[in-house]
Amino acid sequence: MNSETTEEKAVTKSIKVAVLPGDGIGPEVMAQAIEVLNAACQGIDLQFTERLVGGAAIDATGKALPEETLETCSASDAILFGSVGGPKWESLPPNEQPERAALLPLRKHFSLFANLRPAICFPELTAASPLRPDIVAGGFDILCIRELTGGLYFGKPKETREEKGEKVAIDTMVYRASEIERIARLAFEIAGARKRQLTSVDKMNVLENGLLWRSVVKQLAGSYPDVELSHLLVDNAAMQFIRNPRAFDVVVTENTFGDILSDELAMLTGSIGMLPSASLGTGQRGPYRFGLYEPSGGSAPDIAGKGIANPIAQILSAAMMLQYSFGLDAIAKNIDAAVRKTIAAGYRTRDIDSPDCKLVGTAEMGAAIRENLS
Ligand code: IPM
Ligand code: MG
Repeated sequence: MNSETTEEKAVTKSIKVAVLPGDGIGPEVMAQAIEVLNAACQGIDLQFTERLVGGAAIDATGKALPEETLETCSASDAILFGSVGGPKWESLPPNEQPERAALLPLRKHFSLFANLRPAICFPELTAASPLRPDIVAGGFDILCIRELTGGLYFGKPKETREEKGEKVAIDTMVYRASEIERIARLAFEIAGARKRQLTSVDKMNVLENGLLWRSVVKQLAGSYPDVELSHLLVDNAAMQFIRNPRAFDVVVTENTFGDILSDELAMLTGSIGMLPSASLGTGQRGPYRFGLYEPSGGSAPDIAGKGIANPIAQILSAAMMLQYSFGLDAIAKNIDAAVRKTIAAGYRTRDIDSPDCKLVGTAEMGAAIRENLS
C-alpha cells in the first residue's frame, strides 16, 4: 500500500489521541504540539483527551498512572506523552516514583516493544555538539531502535533478598527468540526504507543473551538481502559513535544497552530538546498502529513554567505519531520541514542558542513553526 492510500484510509475515521502532558515543561511544550497538530491536520478529525500522569497525577489522585488515565489510553489510537518526574517526588519509594510507576507500566501494558529514538544533528546546529567540528560537519541522522519490554527491566526474579547476613540484589536478563525477532524485523524494515544500513549491538562475548541476539538477527538477514547488516559489541559501539557518528544509520539493540546508547547519541547531537521518540506496540487498531510518543529530554524542572523550554522535541514526537500510528506521512513531513525551516531561519530557544540567532521562547517557537507549515 502506498502512503496516499494509507492517508485516505486514515482520514475517513476520527482519530483519538490520549494527551498526557505530565510534569515540568511537559504542559508548556505539549500546548505547542497540539497547536501545531491542529494547524497541520486541517480536515482530519483529531480528538484529544487530556489526562493526568506522573507527579501531577500523584498530587491529584495518589497514583502516577490513575485508572482513568489508563482507560483513556486504552480507548485511544495513540498516546502523546509529555514528561514525568521532578524533585518534588524524588523522595517517594522507588516503585512509586513517576518514571517507574507511570512509564514502565504503560510500556508493558500496551506491549510497546519498539522504541525509536532518532538522534539527528541538524547541519545548522553542529556547534551545539560536544564533538569536534570536523567529526560532525554536515550533521548526522542516526535512528536508535531500542527493544523496550524485555531484558533486565522486566525479567524475573527481580528482587533484593537477604543471604548469609547481607543483602543481595537480583535482576534477570531474559530474551525469547521471538522478542528478538520482532524488534529485529522492524529494524530491517525501517533500515530498508532509509540508507539500508543496519548495525546490531550486543554483548555476545559474555552474555548468553548476546549470543541468542546475534544468531537471531543474523538468521533474519537472509530475508532482507538489500540491507547491509553489521554487528558491534556494546562497549565498542559506545566508542564508535563518538569516533564517527556519520558512519551510522539505523542501530538496533536490547533494552538496557538502548537506554544507555540512546542517551549517548542524544548528547552527541548536542540538543536534547530537539529529539522526539516513538514507542510502538504490537496492536493494530483498525487502520492504526498503537504507539506512545514522547520527547527524549525529560521534564526539565529547573526551567519549567518560564516559557523558555524548547517545544521541538514534543512537536516532532507528534509528527512521528502521525507517521507511525496514522500513516499520515505527508503531514508528518510537512511538520518536519517546518521545523527545519524555522531552525534555518535562525530561531533558537535558549538550549540551542548561538550568536546572531533569534532567541525565542516556547510559544514563539511554536508559532514560527506553524507559520512555516505549507
Ligand atoms: C528512558 C528513561 C527510562 C528508562 C526511565 C525513566 C525508567 O531513562 O526512557 O530512557 O530507563 O527506560
Ligand atoms: Mg534513559
